[in-house]
Amino acid sequence: MLKLLFIGDIVGRPGRDIVSEHVPKLRREHSIDFVIANGENAAAGAGINGAMAKSILDAGVDAITLGDHVWDQRGWENEIGQMEGVCRPANLPKSNPGRDHLIIEKRGFRVAVFTVLGRTYLNLKADCPFLCADRMIEQLKAQADAIIVEIHAEATSEKQALGWHLDGRVTAVLGTHTHVPTADARVLPKGTAFMCDVGMTGPYQSVLGRDVNAVVARFLDGMPRRFEVATEDVRISAALVQIGASKANAEKIELLTVRR
Ligand SMILES: [Fe+2]
Ligand SMILES: [Fe+2]
Repeated sequence: MLKLLFIGDIVGRPGRDIVSEHVPKLRREHSIDFVIANGENAAAGAGINGAMAKSILDAGVDAITLGDHVWDQRGWENEIGQMEGVCRPANLPKSNPGRDHLIIEKRGFRVAVFTVLGRTYLNLKADCPFLCADRMIEQLKAQADAIIVEIHAEATSEKQALGWHLDGRVTAVLGTHTHVPTADARVLPKGTAFMCDVGMTGPYQSVLGRDVNAVVARFLDGMPRRFEVATEDVRISAALVQIGASKANAEKIELLTVRR
C-alpha cells in the first residue's frame, strides 16, 4: 500500500510557508510516499516563479502542477522548461513551454501525474479535457504503475463527468481551482478516487485567498482594486489517497486539513 498526498492550490507566501513548515512532518507522520501540489497561485496569488517552485520542491513536494494562472508571472515561460519537478496543464496548445506530465518513482512504484483544464466558465485556449485525458492515459499507462489526473476547473459538473469518464482507468481524479474543499471524497465503483475540489492551501479568512474587504468592495461598486493575499487562518488542504500497490486502484481517499 502506498500513500499519496495531493495539496490544493498554494496561495502566496502564507501558502508557501505552511507547506515548508508542515510537509516534511506530514510525510513522516502519515508515511506518505508521494506529494503533489498545485502551485498556480504561489506568487502573490497569481502564477509561480523558479525560486518559489524550488522552495516548494525543497520542502518535500515531489511534483508541482499548475492551472489557468500558469503564465501569470513574467519570465516563467523561460524557466519552466528547466524545472524537472513542474508540469503545466496538458491540454494547453502544444507550443506552450514546459512538461505536460511528470512521473515520480518511490520504492519502485511509478506515479504519473498530469493536469487538464476544464472549459466550462474558463476561457483558455485548451483542448477538450476528456479527449486529452484519454490520449495522455494511452501514452502513460506503459510508463507508470498509477496515474493521477488533476481536473483544474470551475464547474463541479465537468469535474464529476471526468471522474466517471476515467473511473477504473486511473488511480485518482482530483479537482482544483475553486479553492473550496468539497465534502464528496470517495472511491468510484471501478476504483478511482475522486474529489471535486481538494481545497486551497493558504489563508481561509479571505475570499479564495484574497483580502476580504477588497473583494467585498469590488462586488459592491465594481471598481478595480488590488486584491492582496490575506494572512489569517492559514491551512493546508489536501487529499490523502491510499493506493493498492498491486492493482494501482485507490483504496481510500480523505480530505486532510492542517492548521497552523
Ligand atoms: Fe485556477
Ligand atoms: Fe487557484
